[in-house]
Amino acid sequence: MGEPKAILFDLDGVIVDTAKHHFIAWRALAAELGFEFTEADNERLKGVSRMDSLNILLEIGGINISEEKKKALAAKKNEQYVKAIQQMDRSEILPGVERFLTELKEKGVPFALGSASKNAPLILKQIDLYDTFDAIVDGNVISKAKPDPEVFLKGAELLKIDPKDCVVFEDAQAGIEAGKHAGMYVVGVGDADILTGADDYIQDLSDMHFSRLVK
Ligand code: G6P
Ligand code: MG
Repeated sequence: MGEPKAILFDLDGVIVDTAKHHFIAWRALAAELGFEFTEADNERLKGVSRMDSLNILLEIGGINISEEKKKALAAKKNEQYVKAIQQMDRSEILPGVERFLTELKEKGVPFALGSASKNAPLILKQIDLYDTFDAIVDGNVISKAKPDPEVFLKGAELLKIDPKDCVVFEDAQAGIEAGKHAGMYVVGVGDADILTGADDYIQDLSDMHFSRLVK
């Protein structure tokens, strides 16, 4: 790869820990529907779109309902989730993120967001990083969910950088696969015992410096 020319970041679990807010909202919905939704179940929803997440949740609860009813439940969950993220601030930015973004700015390396979340703009505004990103690709503009590479290819296109010169940071298995399908160098963020298929692994971005990406 030589020196990477652009970086693509997933949002949830890489820039900010929203998994806990998603979990609380999904658990409340499950409780209303009469079944338990555990933290282990929540792992299956990482990187998965809102509707696909709901389908997994309903499958766990053994519930079969119409598409219309599903839309209403997804909207209800999102309402609660949005209330939680409206309380977020910069203190919820994950370790190492701000320092690494500053390093990229100093080096003149552009970076984009590549997230499945339709709430990504709101979250970035809450943590005051919206204007820091050179491009934002989120759940409002993509049509194919990770592991499809669309989200990252679109990010590379907006930054006008060849996919092979891009590095992806991802905490979800589906996201690691999306990055590899896009032909990019992928760094898995989180537990290396759970994640597979990435080119490198870090616990969080405090373990990351640009020099580590220069091959
Ligand atoms: C990210 C999260 C998922 C979430 C998805 C959609 O990929 O990791 O857990 O389901 O975004 O989020 P949204 O904010 O659009 O419901
Ligand atoms: Mg994620």
